[in-house]
Order: sequence, then C-alpha cells, then structure tokens
Amino acid sequence: MQLRHQNKLILVGFMGTGKSSVGSRLAEWLGWPLIDSDAAIVRDQNRDISSIFATDGETAFREIESRVLASLLQTPDRAVVSTGGGAVLKEENRKLMRKTGIVVALKASPDRIVSRVLQDETRPLLDGDVQGRVYRLLEERKHAYDFAHFTLDTTEMSVDDVAAAIISMT
Ligand code: S3P
Repeated sequence: MQLRHQNKLILVGFMGTGKSSVGSRLAEWLGWPLIDSDAAIVRDQNRDISSIFATDGETAFREIESRVLASLLQTPDRAVVSTGGGAVLKEENRKLMRKTGIVVALKASPDRIVSRVLQDETRPLLDGDVQGRVYRLLEERKHAYDFAHFTLDTTEMSVDDVAAAIISMT
C-alpha cells in the first residue's frame, strides 16, 4: 500500500482528531488538492451541516454524505480527502474508501477530542453536554475506524508531525 501508486489519501477519524488541519498540511506538502467531504456536502446542499441535521435528520444526512463521498472518490485525480467523522458508519463507504485509496485513521484521547471540539461548537451531534456526548459516541464507534490501512494517535503530536508521519508510513 504505497502512496505513489495511489491517487487518493483518505483521512478518517472521530471529530476533533485533526483530519482537517492534517489534511491541509498534507495537501500542501504533496502538492495535491484537499477535498473536505463536509465542505462538499455544504456546497452540494447549499446549507450548513447543522441545518441538514435539524431539518432532515441524521439518516438523511448520512445518505447525502454517502452520495457526495462516492462522487468525490470516483474521480481519477489525485487528492487528499478529509472525511466527516461519521462517514465510516456505512459499510459501503468503508469498502469504497479502502478500494479507492490509502485510508489513514487519526485517533486522539477523549480529553484532547473534547478540548478540540470545544473550539468549534458547530457540530450537531455534540450539542449540549459536549463531554458526555463525545464519550458516548466514542464508545459507540469504538471499532468504526479499524478498517483503515494505517492508524495514528495524534494526541501528543503537532500537525506537522502527524503529516510527516503519514508521509513516511504510506
Ligand atoms: C460527524 C462529524 C462531522 C460532520 C457531522 C457529523 C460525525 O465532521 O460530518 O457533524 O458523525 O462524526 P468532522 O469529523 O469533520 O467534525
């Protein structure tokens, strides 16, 4: 599984594990475009993620997410793809990601995740009791990211260190 033979580097992981910042650093270093699946959903729907959850609910969001992800992944162009934390919940998405590129899962300690997500309180699944919700979802998704080709714990690492580690392991 080597990056030079692949055209997509796909980052998966729970909210607050650093997918977006690491993705943009990787894109910069590799000279590849960065595709953020949440941003692509917002463009596709012309409304933000919170309004999709509020108006249509999570099930509808997951359908939109899968459709948008599939269309992003089917292009032959090289790209770093940063995915939403729940994009891995459907098996069809996990299969497609493994088939289309190198999948790297980012992990972080629950406390680090809580402190990172508190800096951006726009995540509908974490409304209200952020800490309680993070812990509950982490438990529910304990094995959701195990399908990745590589896994990296970013808790004590800087964005540059995570990006460099990904480049050297792929
Ligand atoms: C979600 C993660 C979010 C976003 C949506 C749902 C999840 O993306 O897709 O709020 O279910 O984990 P980030 O992981 O980029 O925060």
